[in-house]
Amino acid sequence: MAEGPGRACPVSYRYGAEALRAEPSLAADTLYVAGGLYGNPLALDALLDLVASEPGARLVFNGDFNWFDVNPEDFRRINETVLAHLATRGNVETELAQPGKDAGCGCGYPDWVGDAEVMRSNRIQERLRETAQQFPELTARLGALPMFIVARVAGVKVGIVHGDGGSLAGWAFSQEALATAEGLAAARAAFGSSGVSIMASSHTCLPVLQRIADVPREAVLINNGAAGMPNFRGALHGIATRISVHPPEGRALYGTTVQGVHVDAVSVVYDAEAWKPRFLEQWPAGSDAHMSYFNRITQGPTYTMGDAVRLGRQAEPELAL
Ligand SMILES: [Fe+2]
Repeated sequence: MAEGPGRACPVSYRYGAEALRAEPSLAADTLYVAGGLYGNPLALDALLDLVASEPGARLVFNGDFNWFDVNPEDFRRINETVLAHLATRGNVETELAQPGKDAGCGCGYPDWVGDAEVMRSNRIQERLRETAQQFPELTARLGALPMFIVARVAGVKVGIVHGDGGSLAGWAFSQEALATAEGLAAARAAFGSSGVSIMASSHTCLPVLQRIADVPREAVLINNGAAGMPNFRGALHGIATRISVHPPEGRALYGTTVQGVHVDAVSVVYDAEAWKPRFLEQWPAGSDAHMSYFNRITQGPTYTMGDAVRLGRQAEPELAL
């Protein structure tokens, strides 16, 4: 297993899925969960418009709302806006507020992410920290955010996490891990320990909607991928998770129901043309973020919507045998 800054998942990031058995601190008929805004202020505007289109809807930012926002004005506005809502911290915010020794970006990158990308992420985090240091009060507030929030939508318990069921920067809810029998078994175990029926995660950068079979209730994991970056080939919009007693009425890219509650992925349609020059002002060609992300920002990843939606038993290789 690869080691070094950006690879480790610090011990302080671990809470364990049993922690999600806590009483819900939030009840809503409609809940939006948006992780991975990644410092895109245009996606923030689009997301706020989306949530405002449903009066009474609540919004939770589940971490990594910072990343590309080394511009001090973008950093200030993004964090002031996010902190006016409910939010959990991601590894990016945690490492801004309480830099762990040798944690790097705190991403906990698995072996399938190459060393060069991990090192670039560590340097992005260092550059972002220079901006954050200009805002000590905001940065301290980031460090005080919770690692997870337990919510209730029409009696159905929802665990809102950044990484996975047990850790702030865990990768167990990544599309890669969930494509394996071991990964599905681990996700089932997390649902079993947590007692929740829906988990909304982010962190791993690519979305997944995964039915969790063989727990004693209907259960679904929804990872929104990124609210502030493209998630599918050729589709230059972000994604947020919507969980509601009401059907999505044309808003959904894909979705399902859990115990009568609608669980959907919805587009965060930001002005991609306007975002490009703002990104380039902060991260010109040759910079670390440009090398890691510019292709994705302008073309999307190679991933497709068909890759993300895993609602049938055919998605569970050990059960198909
Ligand atoms: Fe993350």
